Amino acid sequence: RNEINIGLLGFGVVGSGVAKILQDHQEDLHHKLGVPVKIKKVLVKNLHKNRETTLSLETFTDNLYEVLEDSSIDLIVEVMGGTFDAKEAIESSLRAGKGVVTANKDVMAEFGPGLLKLADENKCDLFYEASVGGGIPLIRTLEDGLASDRIRALTGIVNGTTNFILTKMKHEKMSYEDALAEATALGFAEADPSADVDGIDAARKMVILASLSFSTEVRLGDVFVRGMKEIQEGDLELAEQFGYTVKLAGSAKKNEDGIEVAVEPVFFPNSHPLASVNNEFNAVYIYGDAVGETMFYGPGAGSMPTATSVTGDIIAACRNLLLGVNGKRLHAPQYERKVKSDSN
Ligand code: HSE
Repeated sequence: RNEINIGLLGFGVVGSGVAKILQDHQEDLHHKLGVPVKIKKVLVKNLHKNRETTLSLETFTDNLYEVLEDSSIDLIVEVMGGTFDAKEAIESSLRAGKGVVTANKDVMAEFGPGLLKLADENKCDLFYEASVGGGIPLIRTLEDGLASDRIRALTGIVNGTTNFILTKMKHEKMSYEDALAEATALGFAEADPSADVDGIDAARKMVILASLSFSTEVRLGDVFVRGMKEIQEGDLELAEQFGYTVKLAGSAKKNEDGIEVAVEPVFFPNSHPLASVNNEFNAVYIYGDAVGETMFYGPGAGSMPTATSVTGDIIAACRNLLLGVNGKRLHAPQYERKVKSDSN
């Protein structure tokens, strides 16, 4: 191979960020990989929308099969969002023998195990670093960095939008509605922000993190979820009065009974590091037998941080393609499912 061609599915907040990084950092990427990485096609819903981009008009198409059937395309980057169309697009890409990088937590939380199996069967890579924690490399940390340890528990803030809203309400006395509107304008919120405020987005991310941490298949229905609406008027003032900060937090722990995963509003004492994680930032504590306690912190939403994780995956997938080891993985053992909801 003397170049790597990418088919980009979606050109919204994340997709346009990916295109920008591939364009602005193209010399660095060429230098790191030894070959240039190019966007060959971009799938969009509306071809006639005005877009600020240096990509040529012919790059854009509204036909998925024009991307999948282009034999010069080596890798598909799915950043279109949503569940069913995106899942189908990922499946079709893998069946067409093309590796996939996705930022889609909805799809990975619900269909991750099946899609990873399909990727294995088709000898393709399927990377999904951007699905959790925006620009924080959490998936790779759990898969590689902490792979030798026994993870006991995780706790953290994994939704940028609700953290942004709670920060603005606390520090700027902004109303919930205005803060949500600002989070939407800044590209942090989901297309349907009820996924953010109802805790579903955080629950999906906790499913992905807990499955990786405990080497088991945690499902969305296993997660106890209470969203921001559970925070009553006056709770924030009361918390402040007593030296606490309210956050929508995720937790996952493993004990003899099984695995417990939850997303709910939590009162953190102001001295707790999670109390000072503000705006769209995320932070996750991981407790392992050997490592002890580690914390990962960074921007949890937004175009460029999320696009950084996507392009990190693109580099990993390109390296594998260039080395001819794409889709070559040691088969994951079939883990026994042991979550607490099974015994209830
Ligand atoms: N809506 C998500 C959030 C985007 O606010 O965290 C990043 O996954």
